[in-house]
Amino acid sequence: MFKISWSSIFSRFNLLSVVVIVAISFWSISIGWGITSILHTFTGSAPMAIAASPNDGVPARYQAGQEFYLKTCSACHIALPPEVLPSETWKKLLENPNKHYGTSVPNLIRLGQLLIWDYLQTFSRTLPAKDEPIPFYVEQSRYFKILHPRIKFKETVTHGSCIICHPGVENFDFRTLTPEWENSP
Ligand code: HEC
Ligand code: HEC
Repeated sequence: MFKISWSSIFSRFNLLSVVVIVAISFWSISIGWGITSILHTFTGSAPMAIAASPNDGVPARYQAGQEFYLKTCSACHIALPPEVLPSETWKKLLENPNKHYGTSVPNLIRLGQLLIWDYLQTFSRTLPAKDEPIPFYVEQSRYFKILHPRIKFKETVTHGSCIICHPGVENFDFRTLTPEWENSP
């Protein structure tokens, strides 16, 4: 008669599960390593000035997203700080890199898109009403206005005019103001 021994089933089961666990661990370690090395390729050579900026206080979880953002979105104009536009604007811009104000944003790979969105979404607010038109220029943005309570802008404000009052824009620093504003009541 064929006799099944429970202990032999258990020992086979244990052996199998050990093999599976080891295989899964190797697999996830290699995926983790792959992602890290991809991130490194894209973020490895971020300019030092950015790393030293006072606005660099983003939690570790968003740092890769911020670096991707600065790399991808400061090639043609300064990188705007996330809080000046609603999340809806950032979403539309990230979803349509090929329809970008008459040009197209190159090198926006899927992983970059996700990391940038994670960062921009976290540091911006959504529009209060669903039917409110999405602003595509800072000039039209309610959040840009809210961040400038002291200022009555006389001329059109664009990405090119921030530097008039924010001398640190190249370092993604929107806190430092020109002495004239720093000292005004
Ligand atoms: C290939 C060049 C290029 C790249 C790269 C680029 N942009 Fe632009 N962007 C433009 C142009 C051109 C305009 C139109 C404004 C102008 O005429 O100066 C613009 C305008 C904008 C504006 C409106 C600015 C304002 O003055 O109100 C925002 C916001 C913006 N871009 C976000 C982004 C984001 C986010 C990225 C990265 C995903 C990005 N841009 C990357 C070319 C670029
Ligand atoms: C005419 C001068 C002026 C211009 C132009 C200007 N800002 Fe400002 N910004 C200020 C002042 C002053 C403050 C401090 C808030 C206040 O007093 O209204 C400020 C505050 C801010 C803040 C909040 C900073 C913080 O402490 O967290 C952000 C973000 C910002 N500005 C972004 C921008 C961007 C982006 C542009 C260009 C599209 C821009 N500003 C153009 C003067 C200016």
